[in-house]
Amino acid sequence: MEKLINIKEMYKHYPVGTGKFTALKDINLEITSGEFSGVVGPSGSGKTTLLNIIGSLDVQSEGIVEVLGKDVKSLNHRQSADLRSKHIGFIFQTYNLLPVYTVFENVEFPLLLLNYSVAERKKMVIDALEWVGLMPKIKSRPAQLSGGECQRVAIARAIVKKPQIVLADEPTANLDAENSHHILRTMVELNEKLGTTFVFSTHDAKVINYLRRKITLLDGRIVSDDIIDK
Ligand SMILES: Nc1ncnc2c1ncn2[C@@H]1O[C@H](COP(=O)(O)OP(=O)(O)O)[C@@H](O)[C@H]1O
Ligand SMILES: [Mg+2]
Repeated sequence: MEKLINIKEMYKHYPVGTGKFTALKDINLEITSGEFSGVVGPSGSGKTTLLNIIGSLDVQSEGIVEVLGKDVKSLNHRQSADLRSKHIGFIFQTYNLLPVYTVFENVEFPLLLLNYSVAERKKMVIDALEWVGLMPKIKSRPAQLSGGECQRVAIARAIVKKPQIVLADEPTANLDAENSHHILRTMVELNEKLGTTFVFSTHDAKVINYLRRKITLLDGRIVSDDIIDK
């Protein structure tokens, strides 16, 4: 299996006042192609920090982080934007949809950075909306949707370019049980059919039940890393 993420002896310090706060400590983690894995831990344990570093939205203070064979710290702004826009999809707890855009336009948005024709984009957006079951809402705007529907739009936006990696930061935090199970089943299906690698962060037991690998973070350290047999 291809190694997609390779982290060695990684630390993240944040400056606070005249000192520093260490949010991640001695992180060693390899994630291979096709995994459905989650970083699990209480609030403040470092989950978002870790996902942001994997997604090259932030950089580590010490150690090595390689994503798709690239040392992310050595990338300039354009190169890391390129890595994100081509290969990584993001799903956030708060959806981060553009309120004035329709569902179609929100999902099309990441494709505008890539070289697709109008017709290709349209087909890709429709495919993604079919995956998440939201074709009937294609012309709606976020304010007209429920939280579960907004998160499904966010999933469609994350997967529309068929990225190798999807990073989902507490994707069910604002959803009820039924919507949580619906979006998790959608993601399992994408993982199984397209081979998309998922890395979640969560402290939601419903999400943990779907994971095939559970990486537990506590106070910035990985305290356990378990494969879960299904
Ligand atoms: N920009 C920052 N500056 C200082 N401390 C931060 C910053 N971002 C996060 N932290 C701290 O790092 C720790 C981990 O945060 P975070 O990764 O958001 O945890 P989680 O996502 O697990 O709740 C927390 O104690 C948080 O307060
Ligand atoms: Mg967080």
